[in-house]
Amino acid sequence: MASITRALKPCYRKAAAFSDTSLFQSIRQYQMLGQAWGVENPFFKIQESRSKRSVTIDGRQLINFGWCDYLGLSDHPKVLAAAKSAIDEFGSCISASRMVSGDLQMHRQLETELAEFFGFENALVFVSGRAASVSTIGTLLSKGDLVVHDELVHNSAIVGARLSGAEMKPFKHNNLESLIRVLLESRERFKNVLIVVEGLYSTEGDCVNLSRLVQIKQEFGCWLMVDDAHGVGVLGESGRGLAEYAAVDPRKIDIYMGTLSKALASCGGFIAGNAELNEILKYSAPAFVYSVGLPPAVTAAALASLRILRSEPERVHRLHDNCKLFFGECRARGFDTGTSIGLGMIPIMVGSVKKTGRWMELMIKRGFNPSPIIYPGVRINSSRLRFFISSEHSVYELQSCAEALSGSESVR
Ligand SMILES: Cc1ncc(COP(=O)(O)O)c(C=O)c1O
Repeated sequence: MASITRALKPCYRKAAAFSDTSLFQSIRQYQMLGQAWGVENPFFKIQESRSKRSVTIDGRQLINFGWCDYLGLSDHPKVLAAAKSAIDEFGSCISASRMVSGDLQMHRQLETELAEFFGFENALVFVSGRAASVSTIGTLLSKGDLVVHDELVHNSAIVGARLSGAEMKPFKHNNLESLIRVLLESRERFKNVLIVVEGLYSTEGDCVNLSRLVQIKQEFGCWLMVDDAHGVGVLGESGRGLAEYAAVDPRKIDIYMGTLSKALASCGGFIAGNAELNEILKYSAPAFVYSVGLPPAVTAAALASLRILRSEPERVHRLHDNCKLFFGECRARGFDTGTSIGLGMIPIMVGSVKKTGRWMELMIKRGFNPSPIIYPGVRINSSRLRFFISSEHSVYELQSCAEALSGSESVR
């Protein structure tokens, strides 16, 4: 018997060494290019100080434009105190799925207040914003359905759509004529059709025309999902996101995704919508059902931040003033800010990876910390520096950053 098994044993190909995979090779290529250009790796720098508008990297204090702490809440005393007391009362983690281990009262409270603030019937929190999107799309759609997405939509929507088994069709960025063309060609062949867009695009800093988009989704009988990760706390007079910015009833959005990790200074994400959507996700979305609940400190920090956002709309106004100032300074100096509307995050278009790396390095030398955005985060040769603005940046910091940009634009 042993010899028969040996005789029939097929000759399997050996799995590649990780160092031979194309993924590893392309990372190495980038690193070697950086070395050849004399540019230091701008990624995975060690942050030696607490997240706030200045950050210490390699022992140097830099004015920070690299974090999405839009409302400066990540070191707000009330947020820190809420997180600490949640640990004292409930410990460091939940250690199980909420479905089986049960909710904390503060989970329910956070979900109720999120739903109320953003104008929806219900909300459900997940351990990450990305997981919330992937799992929601992956759960709601299946074979025979269609996901029509903006070509620049976040990776989480793309991965969720792939997971669902639905067909996928992109439309041109923020181009609703292109969306209509896709729907005219395809709508009738599919059962459920989901249109997915971002609220404030994380690499472009621009928005879709929401009121027109709502008309289109109604006309074609589709669901609409808005990933408002960067719109929460940023868009609209009181930071209620894209719907407030566009003066559209939020309930026209079927699936509203927000993150707790940016303006809300915590970690995790949420999906808001009607009660039925909430019920489906609560019992079926794998990232909720088969994953741990939000830890107490994280939940309490998000809840405290949300309450500050609600009670201090002047923070949002300060953020808007700061954005306007920095955007104006950059534009006045002739920088290309692409299609950005000048709120929250502001991109400065550079083009090549090499120039972006050099420019980034110079900005660090001058005491500023933006983020370099290169392929695959954006298209090849469309690299840029990205500046996240906070309500807590001072006028001097914003002006001197724009000045430093001017002084270093000739890098090659
Ligand atoms: C547009 C967009 N959607 C979703 C996410 C994911 O959110 P989280 O960081 O909470 O997982 C991000 C995060 O960077 C984002 O920029």
